[in-house]
Amino acid sequence: MKNILVIGATGQIGSELTMELRKHYGGAHVVAGYIPGAAPTGELKESGPSVVVDVTDATTIESAVRNYSIDAIYNMAALLSVVAESKPALAWKIGIDGLWNVLELARAYRCSVFTPSSIGSFGPETPHFMTPQDTTQRPRTMYGVTKVSTELLSDYYFHKYGVDTRSVRFPGIISNVTPPGGGTTDYAVDIYYAAVRGDKFVCPIKEGTLMDMMYMPDALHAAISLMEADSSRLIHRNAFNIASMSFAPETIYASICKQVPGFEMVYNVDSLKQTIADSWPDSMDDACARSEWDWQPSYNLESMTTDMLEKLQKKLLNKATIVSQ
Ligand code: SER
Repeated sequence: MKNILVIGATGQIGSELTMELRKHYGGAHVVAGYIPGAAPTGELKESGPSVVVDVTDATTIESAVRNYSIDAIYNMAALLSVVAESKPALAWKIGIDGLWNVLELARAYRCSVFTPSSIGSFGPETPHFMTPQDTTQRPRTMYGVTKVSTELLSDYYFHKYGVDTRSVRFPGIISNVTPPGGGTTDYAVDIYYAAVRGDKFVCPIKEGTLMDMMYMPDALHAAISLMEADSSRLIHRNAFNIASMSFAPETIYASICKQVPGFEMVYNVDSLKQTIADSWPDSMDDACARSEWDWQPSYNLESMTTDMLEKLQKKLLNKATIVSQ
C-alpha cells in the first residue's frame, strides 16, 4: 500500500485532497503535513496521522518522509496570485525553494511528486481562447513566475534524475469546505457564500471577464487520477491543461439567481485582480489530458451551483445553530 504525504494539508485544496486520498488509500496511509498554527481539526485530524511539515524547511519534510515511509508527495503549499504580488519573496521561497526541497528529497527517497501549476502560468501574450497545451508562457505575476518555474523544475527532475513528477494547470477552484485566500478567482467562491447568507455580492471582477473554473471534486479527481495514470502513456507531465467550465461573473450570477431569486450583485472592480484576470486564459484546451490519462470532468456550472448552494446552506445553518446554543 502506498504511503502519501500531503504538504499544505490544511489549505483550500489540501484539506479536501487529504480526505479524498484517505478514502482511496486508507486513513493511516495519508499523512497531513501542516505548518505550525494551522493544525488540522475535526475529521481531518481524526481520520489519520498529521505532522508539522514546513515546505521551506527540508528537515521537517525529511523526517515525515522517513518516519512514514512515504512513496508519494502532494506538494500543495503556495501563496495565491493576489497575495503573492504583495509578498513576492515569500511566494518564491514557498513555491520554488520549497519545491527544490521536495524534489531533492523525492530524488533521495524515490517518491513521486505532484505539485500543481495553474492558469496563472499563462500571460497576456498567451492565446486566450482554447489555450493550447504547449504555448507561450510569459506570466507577469510572481504567482505565475513560480508556477512556470514549477513546471520546468519538475520536468528537469524527471528527465535528469527520473523523479516521477506530474502536474496539472488548475483553473480557479470552487469549494465549500476551506475558503481560498488571496486568489484572483476567489470571487467565484465568495459569490455563493453571499447568496446563501442573503447578502448583496460586490464583484471585484468586470462583467464579461472569462476565466476557467472547476468544482473541487473534479480537481481532486484530476490530481489523484493523474498520479495513478500509466506512466508510459504520459507525453506531457508538467503540467496538463485541465478544464471543465469557463464563465464570466454575470454567468455564475445568473446560474445562482435561478435557485436564489432576488439575489443581488453589483460591481466594484479591483484593478489588480482585473489585470491578473485579463492576462489569464478565457478557456483552456485540455485535449492532451483527455487523451493521455483519460481526464474527464463531472460537473458543469449548473450542477456545481446546485451542489454548492445545498452544501453551503447546511454548513452555514450548522454554524448558526452552534453559535446560538
Ligand atoms: N486560484 C488561483 C488564483 O486565483 C489561480 O490558480 O490565484
